[in-house]
This record gives sequence, C-alpha cells and structure tokens, in this order.
Amino acid sequence: MKIIGTGSAHPKQVVTNEMLSTFLDTNDEWIKTRTGIQERRVISSERLEDLALEAMERALQSTKLTARDIDFIICSNVVNEYITPGLGCVLQGMLGATCPTIDVNGACAGFIYALDIADAFFKSGRVKNVLVVAAEEPSRMMDWTDRSTCVLFGDGAGAVVLTEGDNFESFSLTNTSMPEALYQRHKLQYTPYVDKDEPDHAVIMNGQDVFKMAVRGSIRDLNRVMQKANVTPDQVDHYLLHQANIRIIDTIREYMKQGWDKFPHFIEKYGNTSSSSIPMLLDEMAREGKIKDGDRIAMSAFGAGFTTAACLLKWTEIKYEE
Ligand code: UT7
Repeated sequence: MKIIGTGSAHPKQVVTNEMLSTFLDTNDEWIKTRTGIQERRVISSERLEDLALEAMERALQSTKLTARDIDFIICSNVVNEYITPGLGCVLQGMLGATCPTIDVNGACAGFIYALDIADAFFKSGRVKNVLVVAAEEPSRMMDWTDRSTCVLFGDGAGAVVLTEGDNFESFSLTNTSMPEALYQRHKLQYTPYVDKDEPDHAVIMNGQDVFKMAVRGSIRDLNRVMQKANVTPDQVDHYLLHQANIRIIDTIREYMKQGWDKFPHFIEKYGNTSSSSIPMLLDEMAREGKIKDGDRIAMSAFGAGFTTAACLLKWTEIKYEE
C-alpha cells in the first residue's frame, strides 16, 4: 500500500504552561525541561468527531477519491463520548462513506497498529482504498488536579488515505501486558448482581517506568523494521516518533546516532496527542514540503498496554491544493 492523502485537525483552545500554573502546583520551566511541551490544544466546544471529520476530509481532498471510493475505515481511538457504536461507525456516516469500519484501541501506538491491519487487507486483495483516522481526546481521561499527568496531553486528529502500492517496507508490533504502568478505569452501569469492587478513576501512570519502556521498545522496534528491510539508520531520512516527551525522542535519536534534522517534533505546541501524534506530524511535514519523493520514513510509537509499534515506508510526494 502507499499513502496518497494526509489530513489533520486540532482544537481551537490553546492551553499554555502558564495557564496550567494558575491552578496547579507546576511551572513552565519544569514542564519545558522535563517534557519539551510549551502548550497543547484541548477540546472545549468541539466534538472529537468534528475534528476527525476535518482530518479525514482534508486527507481525501489531496486525492482524486471520494468517500464512496473508500473500502474500509480503520479508526484509532482510546476514548470518545460513545461507548458504542465505535467512533469509526459515527465517522463513516458523517463522511458519506458506505464501507465497513473498525475501531482499534492500541493506545498511543494505535495509528501504526491500524496501518498494519490496513496492510494485511491490501495484501489479501480485499481492498483498493483504505482510510485510517486517529482521533484522540486524552484531555478527557485526566484528573486535572494531578500535575504529573494532565500537563502532558493534548487533543487532535490525523488521517491518511491509502491505496494499492508497495511503499511500506516492514512492520513490527508488540504488546507486553502491563496495564498497571498506564491505565484508566471506569465503573460500568449498575446491575442488581454485581457485588465486586470496581475502581473508577482518571489516568494513573508510572511515568518513569513508561519512559524506560518507551525508549527500550522504540529502539528494539526500529532495529527490527530496519533489519527486516535491510536498511541502516543512516538510510532513514525521517524518524517520525510518537510525540510523548522530547527527552524520549532525544534518547532514541542518540542511540541511532542521527542528527535532529531527521527527528521532527511538534510536541512543543501540541503535547502528547496519543495515537494522533504521528499522522498529525506527517500531515504538517508533508504539507510544508519537508518530505521529498523517495524519502524513507521510520515511524515508532508506544503506549498503554504496553503496546509498541514501528514501520518503515518510502514516500511518494503528494500534491496539495492549498
Ligand atoms: O504516550 C505514552 C504516555 N506517557 C509517557 O510517555 C510518559 C513517559 N514519562 C515521562 O515523560 C516522564 O517520566 C514525566 C514527564 C512523566 C515525569 O518526568 P520525570 O523526570 O520522570 O519526573 P518524576 O516523575 O521523577 O518527578 C520529579 C519531580 C517529583 O517531585 P519530587 O518527588 O522529586 O519532589 C514530582 O512530584 O517532579 C514533580 N512533578 C512536577 N513538578 C512540577 C511531577 N509533575 C510535575 C509538574 N510540575 N507538572
């Protein structure tokens, strides 16, 4: 398969580190030096599905396809206002598509999980065009009195349109079951029979464990996808890493012995937008002409699970109208 369209959208509400320090015991200096984040976008009056629709429509605009040409929609999402139906079902109707949809909850690695599923559908000959959309509002999962988590995240959506081609060179997915490192739990509806204790709380994260697993997992996955494709770190032009912490990106960059020019980042302005971070960054770079025809891209992400995923692909330039 190959990517023929990209799109992204973010909420209008900007939340700076200074704004957080008015109601939390935190400050711009701590957040900037420990994470790289200066501000993030947070959902206010928008609905997540509107952001996702904008990202999908923008991705379609850069192709010659219409919504009816899409054979399958794969939606990467952790939470939204619906428990059921899946967010992809809601988005399919809004977009005017008629194909089946499936939701993937691979946490921050969900976009690459979704790409891998799309790849399998292409290889089995069941689809000609697939739309992958990642839409996330982690801000709705946080305890906004907990400075150790709520300062890290932001909301947004990113999408890609895929068609038949041979640009993807390799994938690697893993899950190491470790829910205690990063999780949120909520109470289900009352029944007259449940008599067990059911926790109900916002996100809980062991930041230092996640940091170490992220670095180890990403390096392992990147090595795997490069080995599979017989590619060295020098032959990768752009490392699009999950935007969780600039220090995580820097540690991986140093291990790969590559310059910052190969490690684009926008965590400064968006924070960690979960699985949307890579497609949002890809869209921004592609529209700014920063990815050239034939460039090789490595993507790598990690998140609750503990899931990790990476892939390697060659870029075919997209002509954007605006
Ligand atoms: O998509 C995957 C999602 N998660 C991640 O990728 C997170 C990975 N982990 C991290 O990015 C880092 O571990 C954090 C940014 C979460 C934390 O950075 P750290 O360098 O590991 O700090 P720490 O947890 O060791 O905390 C150091 C200190 C503590 O105070 P004491 O115990 O030393 O007095 C914290 O209470 O910093 C304090 N602290 C804060 N101070 C000001 C924690 N959060 C804040 C804050 N402002 N927002």
